[in-house]
Amino acid sequence: MASKTSSRAGHTKQKRSAPQQQKQYVVAANWKMHPATREKAKQLFADSKAEAKKHPHIHTMLCPPAIYLPEALKQSRSQHITVGAQDAHWEKVGSHTGQVSAAQLADLGAECVILGHSERRAQGETSEAVAKKAKAVLSARMTPIICVGEDDRDEDGDYVNALRDELRKSIEGLEKKHIKRSYIAYEPRWKIGERAEEPLAPEQLHTTSLILKKELAERYDVKTGELARVLYGGSAGPDNAAELISEGQVDGLLVGSASLQAKSFRELLNAVATLQ
Ligand code: PGA
Repeated sequence: MASKTSSRAGHTKQKRSAPQQQKQYVVAANWKMHPATREKAKQLFADSKAEAKKHPHIHTMLCPPAIYLPEALKQSRSQHITVGAQDAHWEKVGSHTGQVSAAQLADLGAECVILGHSERRAQGETSEAVAKKAKAVLSARMTPIICVGEDDRDEDGDYVNALRDELRKSIEGLEKKHIKRSYIAYEPRWKIGERAEEPLAPEQLHTTSLILKKELAERYDVKTGELARVLYGGSAGPDNAAELISEGQVDGLLVGSASLQAKSFRELLNAVATLQ
């Protein structure tokens, strides 16, 4: 994400080098269905917010379960914290038991929504549904974090086609301007949570992020591919966060388990801050 530093270029005839823009990395916390009580959620939110405040150059996004959103939104009065949801229905209102719409989330004050997470895809969420949700999230002026990732890797490289296909279908109908406002979260399913013995190697991440950008470049244009914002998720923690971002050359991380304890979240943010 671009820094808010503004350039004063052109102010004087004397030639000056443009001010160095500081890269703003993203750390998006996916709390999934944690924690167990409202009190614990309040505490975790307060702790996470306090840590995020120490790192104004990291864009911290907190995505608690929907039931905790009002509390989180009440507490989030910092321009460096964005509060969002973990799913959204594309229709504004309707007979959809158990669902919450993008419009309702936006009305509440949410600013971003994780879409197509593999744990939802495992329950039958299709890429077509993800694309509809992404459109609804964008038209409600929020930011979608569109998750894609292969189930496993095969030696023949067939996963590449599966991954590109999943991305293509998950952004069906989105325009260039929509991609600019979105994040693509690459989450290889074999590297998420307990399934993973160790995180993805940064060089594998870099290659895959280029594959996703190539798909976007072919679907839109080279610039859209180059500028697309890619996050990585899957066993990211304090020990590998900096390496994944710098060597994997991504814009930030989507973090599950490491965002659930104040200590590990603090260490993770500290690790990302070393990149600045
Ligand atoms: P993890 O989860 O960091 O616990 O692997 C990441 C995710 O599922 O978004």
